[in-house]
Amino acid sequence: MRRIERLFRTLYFAVPAVLWSVTPLQCALADFPVSYLHGNGSKAYPVVSLTWGLLAISFIVIVIVGALLTWGIIAKRARARDIAATPVGRSGGGTQWLIWGTGISTVALFGSLVWTVAVLADINGPPSKPTVTIEITGQQWWWRARYLSDDVSRIVTTANEIHIPAGQPVRIKLIGADVIHSFWVPALTGKTDTIPGQTNTMWLEADKPGIYRGPCTEYCGAQHAHMTAFVVADPPDVFKAWWDGQIAPASAPADEQEARGQVGFVFHCGACHTVRGTEAGGTVAPELTHLMTRKTIAAGTLDNIPSNLAGWIANPQGVKPGTNMPAPGLSGQEVADITAYLETLR
Ligand code: CUA
Repeated sequence: MRRIERLFRTLYFAVPAVLWSVTPLQCALADFPVSYLHGNGSKAYPVVSLTWGLLAISFIVIVIVGALLTWGIIAKRARARDIAATPVGRSGGGTQWLIWGTGISTVALFGSLVWTVAVLADINGPPSKPTVTIEITGQQWWWRARYLSDDVSRIVTTANEIHIPAGQPVRIKLIGADVIHSFWVPALTGKTDTIPGQTNTMWLEADKPGIYRGPCTEYCGAQHAHMTAFVVADPPDVFKAWWDGQIAPASAPADEQEARGQVGFVFHCGACHTVRGTEAGGTVAPELTHLMTRKTIAAGTLDNIPSNLAGWIANPQGVKPGTNMPAPGLSGQEVADITAYLETLR
């Protein structure tokens, strides 16, 4: 009996302490890139309000139940020596607690249910017709993004950094290439799985230009944690310029080293990667025609700077163990040449 009482006392003090420490921490983390406590865009705002609302209801319930529990333990505590003399059964007049308790819980739960369903209905479709449709494929361990268009000359493929026009709804088609992954950009939209053999459709919108981080959120193997998508919301004219830039083929090498690098790249890397305008036409790995427009490499694993790029192509397994990119066995000179060539892919 004492042990149970001690347990309840511990819980009574521990639970609010944990809540009090976690809540300000969550608030402080709200500005972090994967926080779901601040939203951006017409799909995120109702969800963020719902999140805070349900959090508040849950907090109030915990406080009320905790207070009643403490009151029950402290005020109605039987002294140890009286326990043997306490008759089994209950004194009259406790039924109203059950009626009120059940009634209040029902109202709170039903209210939460209605609110949740209303929000789900609200965000089910975009407020206006999406201006862009992007097919995003989750695969171990990166994201392929294909920009669709009725004009086939405008269809382009890129990887991991998904540009969208700010202030406009965008339709996303999600495909799984190998195992199940999940696409989640917390500041913009909830999670949708990418499932092999199935196309899931969703939409998102960012009100403000910015970079919104999206970690893969379904465990998908060794490098699940290094599978980050970035949604880059650009002002519409910047987005259009970006798309036009992506359509262009790669520029030609400007000097001898870059030319050697291009030959080495086509030979060592071209079976898996595409650089449009060259003989490198592989499709199993990220398209690299405009690699230098991306801020990171290896799906958010490293900043896209020359030293990281060289380290990555020299020893991919050392950077991202298990990655499908094999070590190409390059000499130091070849690494330098290919890196110099990749640097031209702007
Ligand atoms: Cu892909 Cu986890």
